[in-house]
Order: sequence, then structure tokens, then C-alpha cells
Amino acid sequence: MFRNFKMVSRVVFGRGSFNQLNDILAEKRKHTDSFMVFLVDDVFENTGLKNRIPLNDPDMLIWVNVDHEPSTAYVDELTRKAGAFSGQLPEGVIGIGGGSTMDLAKAVSLMLTNPGSAADYQGWDLIKNPAVWHVGIPTLSGTGVEVSRTTVLIGPEKKLGINSDHTVFDQIVLDPELISNAPADQRFYTGMDCYIHCVESLKGTYINVFSQSYGEKAFDLCKEVFLEDNPENDDKLMMASYFGGMSIAYSQVGVCHALSYGLSFGLGIHHGIGNCIVFDHLEEFYPQGVREFREMMKKHDIQLPRDFGNIEDEKLEKMINVALILEPLWENALGTDWKSMMTRDKIKALYISILGL
Ligand SMILES: [Fe+2]
Repeated sequence: MFRNFKMVSRVVFGRGSFNQLNDILAEKRKHTDSFMVFLVDDVFENTGLKNRIPLNDPDMLIWVNVDHEPSTAYVDELTRKAGAFSGQLPEGVIGIGGGSTMDLAKAVSLMLTNPGSAADYQGWDLIKNPAVWHVGIPTLSGTGVEVSRTTVLIGPEKKLGINSDHTVFDQIVLDPELISNAPADQRFYTGMDCYIHCVESLKGTYINVFSQSYGEKAFDLCKEVFLEDNPENDDKLMMASYFGGMSIAYSQVGVCHALSYGLSFGLGIHHGIGNCIVFDHLEEFYPQGVREFREMMKKHDIQLPRDFGNIEDEKLEKMINVALILEPLWENALGTDWKSMMTRDKIKALYISILGL
């Protein structure tokens, strides 16, 4: 069976395109009491961006905190807030921020129309009802969340996405100016998420010409952005993220992402930095990718955290469980016989080396 995958219906790209947001939303405002819910990363609370958000009188603005990875409990809390704001559903949910904020916007738009907790829908195609129309506006690039059919959440038992066609954004606004002031380390970690998507997609067993076409371009753009100095680097990184996301949409990620999910679940580490911590130990699987990654780290003077303290056995076992659930990732990386290669003991040994235990 070939995947019949859903894509983002509308895309705006260009420097300053954020200024068009008001016009884009105006088309969706059906009645005078129609309202939008804006979920915006709270790092922008005291910045100029706040005044550029086209808030209309009945709109709701929620500053979201993404110091930690988004959780199902936080999504439930935000959904309750947005749902209680008026007697009706919003016309749209707009996420402005990095990967975590956009994941929250996707999840809230889904949970406004689907009963229960976000934790009930972690998995594949469990969502029954279409989401509220939702818009993604990245202020960091690399995760590919702007094009993916998932919103990755930490639940009570697992870190897993709500994967569904309804999760995909209806509209994205890609304005390279919005990513130009990101802190250098966050920009690097998020950018490396894209680089790692490309390596895992291109080296995976699921590779096909569709994924390869997007993946190779994204891979080249990442190398330009992080190994060269170019005035259009923000534009290039934004398109690398989009293409990298498109590449994995028709293939899959691999060893780094599987282990990184476990790491985030166990230690609450953000996805991008978690990937970097793991990838640095994966020469065995991706020798050339790891070599280039280290070159990029050197050029950008990035020091990865190395000290994770003592991690009790019970937590380590949970991390292994989270990594092992991700069967398609292992199959893509190692083939159909992956279970004979990636045993619990092997994963444990990898975590011990990654965490310096
Ligand atoms: Fe990723």
C-alpha cells in the first residue's frame, strides 16, 4: 500500500509575509462574533512581535510556555481554556513559535472537536473528527512540524505523536524574518533536527525517489546554512525544514529519533538538543552524517551537555520502552529484521554510552 498523505493546503513564503496574516484570517472570520485563538510562545511577550499579531476584538491570545516539551496534560488545560472562552468554537487556532508551540496549536485544534484527553489519541489515526482550522507560523526552523501530520506530546506513559490527516496545518506562513533573532544554540539544535531528518530518511530502507528528492535538497541546504556564511541563510533554513519534513512524510526517521524520544521522555530534554546528544554517539549507524555534524558543531562552537547525573534503572527501563514502541523508525533504519539487531540490551548499551553512565 502506498501512503496517500495529506499536505498543507496553503503556504505563504517570503520576508515580511507575516504582515499578510490579517488578510488571511479575515477570510475565515464569518460573523461579527467569530474569534480566533492565538497560541504564542511566551518568549515574545515583551517583544515587538506582540504588537504585530493581528488581534481583533473578540480574539483570544494565550501565551504558552514551552520550557518543557509539550505534554498531553498541558494540551488538555489549553483546550479547556480555549473551549470555555465563548459559547462557540473558534474559527481558527494560530500557533506562533518554535516546534513545541506549533505542536500545541495542532493539538488544541484537534482536541477542541474530539472528546476526552489528548493522551487518548497518541498513536496513529485515532482522531475521528476534523480539527478547527489551524495555522502554523514558525519562529524557529528545522523540526518540519509545519508540514508533518503529527503533533508530538509527552503523555503519562509515552512520548508519541497524535498522527492523523486532521493534524496537518491548513495554512502556514513562512516568514524568514521571524527566525532571524532566534538564540544561536536553539537555532543550531532545531536546524540539526532537520539535518538528522535528512540523514535518517536518505539512509533508511523506506527511501524512495519522492523522499530522496526532498531529502537531498534539504540536506544540501542544511550544509550551506551551517557550514557556509550566506546572507540568505534564514530563507534557506526555512525551506530546508519544509523539504526535510516532506522527505520524512514519505519515508521515516531512524535510530537517532527513536533514542531521542526515550531521552526526552526520561529527562525532559527538548527534541532538537536531544537529537544532537544522541546523534553524536551514532557513528556506527550514520558515519558520514556524524562526521559532518561534528564539523558543524565546531564551526558554531556548540558544546553539548555531557553530565546527566545518575539515572536510576527504573527510569532507564522506561526510556527503553519509549524507544522500542517506535517500530517503524527501527524498521526504516535497520530493515524488517531489526528486532534481532536492536535488542533491549543493545538500546541500554547505547543509552549508557550517550548518558556517560
Ligand atoms: Fe525531529
